[in-house]
Amino acid sequence: MTDADITTATTPVADWQAWQESWDRQQEWYMPDREERFRIMLDMVEALVGPAPRVLDLACGTGTITARLLARFPEATSTGVDLDPALLAIAEGTFAGDERVSLVTADLKDPDWTAKLPYDSYDAVLTATALHWLHAEPLAALYGRVAEIVRDGGVFMNADHMIDETTPRINAAERARRHAQMDAAKAGGALDWSEWWQLAAKDPVLAGPTARRFEIYGEHADGDTPSAQWHARVLREKGFGEARPVWCSPSDTLLLALK
Ligand SMILES: C[S@@+](CC[C@H](N)C(=O)[O-])C[C@H]1O[C@@H](n2cnc3c(N)ncnc32)[C@H](O)[C@@H]1O
Repeated sequence: MTDADITTATTPVADWQAWQESWDRQQEWYMPDREERFRIMLDMVEALVGPAPRVLDLACGTGTITARLLARFPEATSTGVDLDPALLAIAEGTFAGDERVSLVTADLKDPDWTAKLPYDSYDAVLTATALHWLHAEPLAALYGRVAEIVRDGGVFMNADHMIDETTPRINAAERARRHAQMDAAKAGGALDWSEWWQLAAKDPVLAGPTARRFEIYGEHADGDTPSAQWHARVLREKGFGEARPVWCSPSDTLLLALK
């Protein structure tokens, strides 16, 4: 037996593609329209900054947006930034050796997080299902930093749960319908957030980073879900010229701001 055989026999390896797929299924349990949001996001990237953009995948998680970006626009480059060591480990495994991708560990609540980025400016900053982890005040501050790093003519897009508090009966009916659909999918075996993390904690490669992510966040960080109008107004106040939703479902919005 050679040293290489021993290393192969004893070093745990992870199937990164399987983790990507299982993450996608878990997220789709909450958002059946998830892929549709990404498709429209990339349509608008192409429309506004072309098919070879330099992108910042903000709160990238496993690099979901980056993977779809590169599949559709092979000339694009992407910087993924996140704080979760386990999701970043999956991203690192997935994009290992791909020179178009760089991954950065940073807390988006840290006022100096942009200093860790490999570039001073981006054609597009894209984010999904993440900024509701921040309260409104740090989110407004984050939008100020985003406005600084998007080039003139560049775009920011945020796909997330944005709640219009002026429509409480519509919101309650939509939520009840969505949860009934989720309960039915759960009965069919869908994994939820905490079950997915229990699986990650049992994986020999992800167990360590998963324990660290629970030290950082607990189960989930607490944040706000302001309305699309709030996001558009704050983005304009922070330096974007135009901002409005470009897609919405009964529960989610894709908001685009143009510098
Ligand atoms: C539900 S995941 C979404 C990930 C990915 N965008 C997707 O759509 O699959 C939310 C992500 O936001 C990240 N996040 C939340 N708060 C953060 C912060 N303060 N700094 C950096 N990342 C943060 C989490 O670590 C997590 O990866």
